[in-house]
Amino acid sequence: MRFAARVEYLGGGSVRAWDIHNAGKEAQARGEDVIVLSVGDPDFATPAPIIDTAITALKDGDTHYTTVAGRHELRKAIADHQNQRTGQKLDEDNVLIVAGTQNGLFSACQCLFGPGDEVIVLEPAYLTYEATVGSTGATLVRAPATSDGLFRPDIEALEKCVTPRTRGILFANPCNPTGVVFSPSELEGIADIARRHNLWVVSDEVYAELVFDGHFGSTAALPGMAERTVTVASLSKSHAMTGWRIGWIIAPKELITHADNLALCSLYGIAGFIQDAALTAIKQTDQVALEMREIYQRRCQVLCDHIDHAPGLVCLRPASGMFALVDVRGTGLSAHEFAWGLFKAEGVSVLDASAFGPSAEGYVRLAFTVGEEQLAEAGRRIVRYAISLTGQA
Ligand SMILES: Cc1ncc(COP(=O)(O)O)c(C=O)c1O
Repeated sequence: MRFAARVEYLGGGSVRAWDIHNAGKEAQARGEDVIVLSVGDPDFATPAPIIDTAITALKDGDTHYTTVAGRHELRKAIADHQNQRTGQKLDEDNVLIVAGTQNGLFSACQCLFGPGDEVIVLEPAYLTYEATVGSTGATLVRAPATSDGLFRPDIEALEKCVTPRTRGILFANPCNPTGVVFSPSELEGIADIARRHNLWVVSDEVYAELVFDGHFGSTAALPGMAERTVTVASLSKSHAMTGWRIGWIIAPKELITHADNLALCSLYGIAGFIQDAALTAIKQTDQVALEMREIYQRRCQVLCDHIDHAPGLVCLRPASGMFALVDVRGTGLSAHEFAWGLFKAEGVSVLDASAFGPSAEGYVRLAFTVGEEQLAEAGRRIVRYAISLTGQA
């Protein structure tokens, strides 16, 4: 039997990147002493008041279809939260509730891009972007980051990627895997290109609440950008709610109408008890996200302090989020060899970051999704492995 051409894009090269993570989880399940630093799933429980809200709603029989676009109160709370953060003037009609950032990115791209279009992705880019753009039939064009090892958005390189076919720019700010938070001038550079070439901007802001110094600028807040920007985010990272699958798209009303129609024939709405829990979560964002930020920042310091003592390794300290990139080229190994070698020798699983794009070739990505003690132990094992490779103490 034949399949649609689209299935070619769904696998994508990055699917193999998870092999080491799967191997780590399987080894753990067999009872082996493995520390898994290969995935961005917070290890905390979702805060109790959020869980309690869901349980109450379930017990009250909130188990039926809901409105496809999401409940009025939740959409309004998200619009208000965004207005407070960015100074925008959004209302609930600018918000669609979706099943997490990933579902929001997919839905937005389906409504914005199609065959013959080009979509520029700032790299290093989150693994799923390739298939998300590919599934629309559009061509993904990679704009490299600066080549100074800092992985800043390279505005000149971005401009060079624009052609008459370009329809949009997609990126994560803050970035996964680098933890880079775009500066106001970098954001303005991107906005300037989008305005001059009449492009959409899809801004994945799933880590926006996890910026360590608390300062974050949304693309949509810049002059002339609200009408061409789709902001996508969720509660997955900021509230340790990855498994709840709830997030949102914030966009001009016309796009929300299209995405609502898409949701009607695909998702058919998010469970009511999850939306109620999300409302509790949104109301507590400031407090919950602050706690998460502080924990990740401390963890980051613990791990990076260890790596700083590892011969042949250079740690890129992130400004946000739950990941750090480590340059392993000084060990003489490729990132793929390093990751598998580390796993086999020391039982620590990390991701070969080249899956995020060619500019991250030679780097591995470490997640701070285990406690400080385990992170310190992972750090010691990484140092030991680096010493074994380089022969230097
Ligand atoms: C940059 C980025 N975007 C989207 C996602 C998916 O988030 P969600 O769980 O909200 O779908 C992730 C998850 O790791 C991510 O790192």
